[in-house]
Amino acid sequence: LGSVGVEVILGSRSYERAKDITDQLRNRWPDRQLPIEPGDNLAAAEAELTVVATPWDAAATTVASLGKPLSGKVVISMANALTRLGTEFIPLIPPRGSIAAGIQQAAPQAMVAAAFHHLPARELGALDHPMEADVLVCSDHAEATAVTVELINRITGLRGIDAGPLSAATAIEAFTPVLLQINHRYRSQASIRLTNIKLA
Ligand SMILES: NC(=O)c1ccc[n+]([C@@H]2O[C@H](COP(=O)([O-])OP(=O)(O)OC[C@H]3O[C@@H](n4cnc5c(N)ncnc54)[C@H](OP(=O)(O)O)[C@@H]3O)[C@@H](O)[C@H]2O)c1
Repeated sequence: LGSVGVEVILGSRSYERAKDITDQLRNRWPDRQLPIEPGDNLAAAEAELTVVATPWDAAATTVASLGKPLSGKVVISMANALTRLGTEFIPLIPPRGSIAAGIQQAAPQAMVAAAFHHLPARELGALDHPMEADVLVCSDHAEATAVTVELINRITGLRGIDAGPLSAATAIEAFTPVLLQINHRYRSQASIRLTNIKLA
């Protein structure tokens, strides 16, 4: 996001860890002048839009503790509930059907959208070449879907796709272990691309 000019506050439970990661990113891409600043999780939640990027089992509790600053804002959930047994990646279905639904329940005043689940971090972070992928977005709030799709479309090579209401997050999240399985088998960093779809 920083590479396309979005001002980012990198949240963390520890400001020092956020600063360390911010410094690593700036040092890795010195010519990019990435507009990324370190912060704590509260600082990230006070931003215009927040992406929740904790492990799946910490996402709802993290958001619940930030309900007030997230109120009325778009919150993007990218967590995938899964476990690994040997070489097998297994989806875990959370009690509310998806992590995104749990986040929406934890912050009922926020406008939760689910997105970014199928993008391998290493490939997305390789700023020297664009990543070609479609990003499925779902939400019960039209504004959250529109803002999230617009954000995704700013990143060269990515297409944001409106995949419907938040109930779609169950299937979107559960598909990630399939992708991980494929990437493990083929030693790839594959994501998804839909065919025969004309986007406005
Ligand atoms: N990695 C990928 O390729 C990828 C792709 C798509 C979606 N995702 C999803 O994105 C999320 C983040 O993935 P990741 O690979 O970046 O995970 P990660 O490195 O394990 O965790 C990200 C950050 O979450 C914070 N965190 C860890 N445990 C926490 C806890 N108990 N409570 C609150 N914060 C905690 C940590 O930051 P601090 O210690 O600094 O607070 C950590 O650096 C996951 O839900 C994953 O399913 C990942």
